[in-house]
Amino acid sequence: MTLSLGVIGLGRMAQLILRSLLEAEKFKYEEVIGIVGQSRSIKTAAEYFSNDFLIVDAKNAKAEKVWDLPVKLLAVKPQQLEQIKENCSTSINSESGQKPLLISILAGVKLDRLQALFPSHACVRAVPNTPALVGAGLTGLAWGDEVSIEQQRLVMEFFKPISKVYELPEDQLDAFLALTSSGPAYVALVSEALADGAVAAGLPRHLSNALTHATVEGTIRLLKEKKLHPGQLKDMVASPAGTTIRALRHLEQEGVRSALIEAVVLAASRSKELS
Ligand SMILES: NC(=O)c1ccc[n+]([C@@H]2O[C@H](COP(=O)([O-])OP(=O)(O)OC[C@H]3O[C@@H](n4cnc5c(N)ncnc54)[C@H](OP(=O)(O)O)[C@@H]3O)[C@@H](O)[C@H]2O)c1
Repeated sequence: MTLSLGVIGLGRMAQLILRSLLEAEKFKYEEVIGIVGQSRSIKTAAEYFSNDFLIVDAKNAKAEKVWDLPVKLLAVKPQQLEQIKENCSTSINSESGQKPLLISILAGVKLDRLQALFPSHACVRAVPNTPALVGAGLTGLAWGDEVSIEQQRLVMEFFKPISKVYELPEDQLDAFLALTSSGPAYVALVSEALADGAVAAGLPRHLSNALTHATVEGTIRLLKEKKLHPGQLKDMVASPAGTTIRALRHLEQEGVRSALIEAVVLAASRSKELS
C-alpha cells in the first residue's frame, strides 16, 4: 500500500478529522503519514488512534515524503506556518493531470497566502468548529482557483463525518468564523450566566447546570422541529404582565441583543485584521 495522505500538524483538530476519515474507511492507516513538531508528541498523537501508522517529527527525513503525496491536510498553528516549506519535486500529479491538493484549516490564513507559500498545490481553505469534536460541527469551505471537481468532492468527504459543510466565497469566511468558530464560546458564556442566575435564585449548582443544558437543547429542538422564528417562540413564552416579559424587558434595557450583534461583528473584523 502506498502513502496517499499527509497530515502536516497532527494536533487536536487534525487527529479528529483523520480519525473520522479512517473510521469511515476513506483512507487506510498504511496510506497515511502524520507529522508533528516535536518527537515527544509522537506518542501522544499515536495514542488517539486504534491502529499504528507512520507518525514522524518535522526533523525526521521521512517527513519530506509528505510533499510527494496527492493530498495534504495542513493543520499547524498559524504562527508555525512559516516553518513549513513546500518541497514538491513534481508540480503536477501525472496520473490525473491536476495539482496535488492542500487543505488548510489554519484560522485566518487566506487562499492567496497559501497559494504563494505552496505554489505547486491546489489550495482549499476550511473553517471547522469545535463541536466537530462530537460530530456536530460546521465547516466552511472556500476553493482556490485550481481545485478540480473531483478534489472538491474529496474535501467534502473530509469534513462530512464531523460536520455540516458549507461552500462559501472566501470573503464570507470571516463572518462564518465569527458565528460558528467563536459561537460555542458565546453560547457557553450565556449558559454559564443563566446557570449562575438559577443559583442566585436558590437552585443547587449541579441542578442549575443540568437544567440550563436541557433548556438550551430543548429550545433549539423546538425551534427546528416546529420551524419557528425565534421571535415567535419568544412571544409564545412571554404572557402579559408575566415573569418572562419582565426578564426580557431587563435584557433589552441592558442591551443584550445589541451586545450579541456587536460581538459577532467584532469577531469578524478581528478575523479580517488577523488575516
Ligand atoms: N482546535 C480547534 O477547535 C480549531 C478549529 C478551527 C480551526 N483550527 C485550526 O487548526 C489548526 C490546528 O489547531 P489545533 O488546535 O489542532 O492545534 P495543535 O493541537 O497545537 O496542533 C498543532 C500541530 O502542529 C504540529 N507542528 C508544530 N510545528 C510543526 C512543524 N514544523 N511541522 C509539522 N507539524 C508541526 C504540532 O506538534 P507539536 O505539538 O509537537 O509542536 C501539533 O501536532 C490551527 O491553525 C487552528 O487555527 C482549530
